[in-house]
Parts: sequence; C-alpha cells; structure tokens
Amino acid sequence: MAVGFHITAAILMLAFAIVHASDPSPLQDFCVAIADADASVFVNGKICKDPKLVKPEDFFFPGLNNPRSTSNPLGSNVTLLNVDQILGLNTLGISLARLDFAPYGLNPPHTHPRATEILVVLEGTLLVGFVTSNPP
Ligand SMILES: *[C@@H]1O[C@H](CO)[C@@H](O)[C@H](O)[C@H]1NC(C)=O
Repeated sequence: MAVGFHITAAILMLAFAIVHASDPSPLQDFCVAIADADASVFVNGKICKDPKLVKPEDFFFPGLNNPRSTSNPLGSNVTLLNVDQILGLNTLGISLARLDFAPYGLNPPHTHPRATEILVVLEGTLLVGFVTSNPP
C-alpha cells in the first residue's frame, strides 16, 4: 500500500514537473561588434567594441529604402541585414530583411530556426505559406 502510494506520488510529481528553458539574458545593454571579419571569439555574439567608441552609425544601414534588382531567375532579391551589416545588432537577437519581388517572383521554401518572422507588404500582394510538422 505505502509502496503503491510512493510510486503514484512519484509519477504525479514527474507528470506535473514545471520546466523552464530560455536563452540567457544578454550581459549588457548593447555590444557593438568590432568590424573585424577575422574575429573568431563568439561569446553570446561577436567581440564587443569599447562602449566609449560606439557611434550612431553602428546602428544604421543606409539605402534599405532603395529597390533591388529582381532580374534573376527567381524574380526576387533578398537584402539581409544582420550583425555583419549593422554591427550594433550584435547579441540583440534581431535581424531584418528587405525582399523585392518582380511580378510572380518567388522566395524558395526556407526555414528560420529559432526565429520569428514578420512581413510587411508595402505594395502589391504576397502569398505566404507555412509547412508544419504537426498538421491538423
Ligand atoms: C540584388 O540587387 C542588387 C542591387 O540592385 C544587385 O547588385 C544584386 O545582384 C541583386 N541580387 C540578385 C540575386 O539578383
């Protein structure tokens, strides 16, 4: 009887165990990456620039408002901006992209591991689909 109670209690404790998992919090408010393509130390991002040397330009990318050429077989052009283009994005977990499409252009199926995507269509209509691993 007592053994059965202990086994039942152990199963219930395992069944209702609360598990938390998340990325660690960043260690600083910002960590502008140093513009050194050869830097190979990665601790929660790339090597930080001395905060006293950080400039507004480290958080700026010019020309994203300009349309890109879509004269290619896919009829699309993806301009990806991440820490390699905007050094201030280092460790912030943010990237963005500008997508230009010719009529009937397409962006091949792809994944965004551990990332969320928000699309803003400025002109025209964009057909977007999802592939799910747990269909209805
Ligand atoms: C994307 O557009 C840029 C600028 O218009 C161009 O230099 C580049 O070749 C284009 N990329 C593709 C894949 O068409």
